[in-house]
Amino acid sequence: MAEAAAPLTARALIDSAARRFRRARLYYGHGTDNAVDEAAFLVLHGLGLPPDAGDALLDQALTAEARAAAEHLVQARLTRRCPAAYLTHRMWFAGHEFYVDERVLVPRSPLAELIHQQFVPWLAPGAVKRVLDIGTGSGCIALACALAFPAAEVDATDLSADALAVATINRARHALESRVRLIEADLFPADGGRYDLIVSNPPYVPATRMTDLPEEYLQEPAMALVSGEEGFNCVDGILARAAEHLTDDGVLVVEVGEIAEAVDERYAHLPLTWLEFEHGGEGVFVISREDLLGATGK
Ligand SMILES: C[S@@+](CC[C@H](N)C(=O)[O-])C[C@H]1O[C@@H](n2cnc3c(N)ncnc32)[C@H](O)[C@@H]1O
Repeated sequence: MAEAAAPLTARALIDSAARRFRRARLYYGHGTDNAVDEAAFLVLHGLGLPPDAGDALLDQALTAEARAAAEHLVQARLTRRCPAAYLTHRMWFAGHEFYVDERVLVPRSPLAELIHQQFVPWLAPGAVKRVLDIGTGSGCIALACALAFPAAEVDATDLSADALAVATINRARHALESRVRLIEADLFPADGGRYDLIVSNPPYVPATRMTDLPEEYLQEPAMALVSGEEGFNCVDGILARAAEHLTDDGVLVVEVGEIAEAVDERYAHLPLTWLEFEHGGEGVFVISREDLLGATGK
């Protein structure tokens, strides 16, 4: 009698998917940075298993139905070359889960680490009453700030009504309607007043660089990435007006990623402090209102 085929397991599916991802030279950077982690993210989601599934779950035999669901995601990742999160509609940021789809950037900002640390030593957490997140996308930064500062009111702006629709889903999921305002606005809200913390991960990719980006990035909304020829449009607007929207002890924290050096040169007259991250990422500066005003002599 023929021997029964070995039962297919999550582990075997992950190995097989990772091999195919490597052969297809997929690009990572939306939550994972290698083929095995990317395969695990998709396969475990397809199987309905937790992302931290242990050996027992990884090695248990799968039903044909579960296998088909996982394989469907793996195939979609290979053929569509889109970020995995657009297939699973979930991403974690600062320890919280968010809904995502093609209307928003996939959350991945190193600002998560600062939120986790409540922006210490730049702010005294107890003193944070009002926060503004500029360019909120999925709402991940605004909502994670609201969770990190449970007594604070958070405003979040975006120019994209589509992005705000996604942020609205996430605000409801985290039951933060009473403390987080989502506002369609160009950088600053018209009626915002002053904030103890203004935080932003604005678009900063130079338009000229867009053609160099891997396919995965081109599937994110262009307005979440591009900000003028050299990438400066949003950061210029934020730096020009932040002081008038900050409280006396307030601070501005902005991610500008790969254009950090160019921003530092352009704003050589400002004492920008560039941060280092334990868990990776770069191109984030902090500046206080006092230093913003000191530099402009106001
Ligand atoms: C890089 S994405 C960041 C999204 C989210 N904060 C995150 O970190 O995942 C930038 C966001 O800024 C928004 N945006 C672009 N220009 C803007 C502007 N002038 N005012 C407000 N938001 C803008 C885009 O629609 C996009 O959602």
